[in-house]
Amino acid sequence: MRRKMAAGNWKMNGSVAGLDMISALASAHSDSGCDIVICPPAHLLMSAAKRAGTGPVAVGAQDCHASDKGAHTGDIAAPMIAETGAAYVITGHSERRETYGETDAAVRDKSAAAQGCGLVPIVCIGESLEQREAGEALPVIRAQLENSVPEGSTGATLVVAYEPIWAIGTGKIPTLDQIAEVHTALRADLVARFGPEGDKIRLLYGGSVKPGNAADIFGTKDVDGALVGGASLTADDFSPIIAALTAS
Ligand code: 13P
Repeated sequence: MRRKMAAGNWKMNGSVAGLDMISALASAHSDSGCDIVICPPAHLLMSAAKRAGTGPVAVGAQDCHASDKGAHTGDIAAPMIAETGAAYVITGHSERRETYGETDAAVRDKSAAAQGCGLVPIVCIGESLEQREAGEALPVIRAQLENSVPEGSTGATLVVAYEPIWAIGTGKIPTLDQIAEVHTALRADLVARFGPEGDKIRLLYGGSVKPGNAADIFGTKDVDGALVGGASLTADDFSPIIAALTAS
């Protein structure tokens, strides 16, 4: 049985005051049986991890560099993230692939660096609207999976998030059949590559997950949770999503 996960990607939002949400989630979901992760901007990581303590909420970063250290102004290395007390790092988010030209190979190297210091990468993949409309969604996503995920990954060292680019921040989501089709294909590829471990790797869906659609999405085959953007910014929105995951 794969443990469910609700991960919130705050993107370039949030403040010290906003970290109160971690305590609110911790008390509301102390017994959820799910992994709850908050990924704030880098300047909040250490405070967030302190606030989370040993409670039910874990902390993740939104990106890391592939090198451990060096002349990389503005970047943050995986061991630095680990030092804050964070346990996860999002890699290969489409906003970074698009804005910074991150390739699958770069995402794989970042993810391997994360794994190398005990962080669990949440590797993001997903097709554009043009690719979906051209009938290329599955081959595009499967190639991203193959090339962005490091060798030797296991259920304990990797999470994958399927985020169709056209569903991010738009209020549009794929049909449940489309989500199931992608997740089933990703699951088959993970098992083909990693054997029984591939069956233990969590597959999250991301893109306009809201309190109103969460239960349907979590009821979809091979969906082990969600990577949530806008609706992870307040406890009022994120809490019902976690509750829906717990009930699923
Ligand atoms: P939204 O939930 O705001 O669509 O964002 C999804 C996302 O990009 C999470 O990484």
